[in-house]
Amino acid sequence: MFVCAVLAAVLLHTHYQAEGENKLLACGTVADFWSEEVLAEQLGITNNITGKQLFRENCSQCHAFQVKVVGPALGGVTDIRNKAWLQAFISNPAKLIESGDSAAVALYREFKQYMPSNDHLTAAAIDSVISYLKYESEISKHR
Ligand code: HEC
Repeated sequence: MFVCAVLAAVLLHTHYQAEGENKLLACGTVADFWSEEVLAEQLGITNNITGKQLFRENCSQCHAFQVKVVGPALGGVTDIRNKAWLQAFISNPAKLIESGDSAAVALYREFKQYMPSNDHLTAAAIDSVISYLKYESEISKHR
C-alpha cells in the first residue's frame, strides 16, 4: 500500500513536471510571436504573407536567413543588393551570371552552382518575395 502511494506520488509529480514544461514551451512560442509583432510595429514594417508562402515553396530548401544552406544566408541581402538586381537575379540567376555582372559572378564562383531560375513566378510574385526578404532582414537585425 505504501509502495503504491509512493509510486502514485512519483507519477503525479512527473506528470506535473511534464505539463509545466509544455506550458513553458507554449509560453515561449507565444512570447516569440508577440515580440515579433511588437517589433514589426515599432519598425513600421509588415510581413508579406504571399512572399513568405512563395519563399517557403520555392526558396527555403536552399536558403535560410542567418546561415548558409545550399545558397547564401539571405539576412541583410536587401541592404547589399538593390531591387532591380534582386528581381533580375531571382528570376533568372544564370542569365545575370552569364552577363558578367560582378556580384552574380562572385556568388557563382563561391557556390559553384547555378541557383535554379524562377521564370514560373510573375514579376509581382518576385516583388512579394523581395518584400518578405526585406521584412526578415529588418526583424533579424533586432534579434
Ligand atoms: C537549389 C537551391 C536554390 C534555390 C531553390 C534557390 N536558391 Fe537562391 N541561391 C542559390 C545559390 C547556390 C546561390 C549563389 C549564386 C549561384 O551560385 O547561383 C543563390 C543566391 C541567391 C541570392 C543572392 C544572394 C546574395 O548574397 O546576393 C538571392 C537573393 C537568392 N538566392 C534568392 C533566392 C530566392 C528568393 C529563391 C526562391 C524564389 C531562391 N533563391 C531559390 C541556391 C538556391
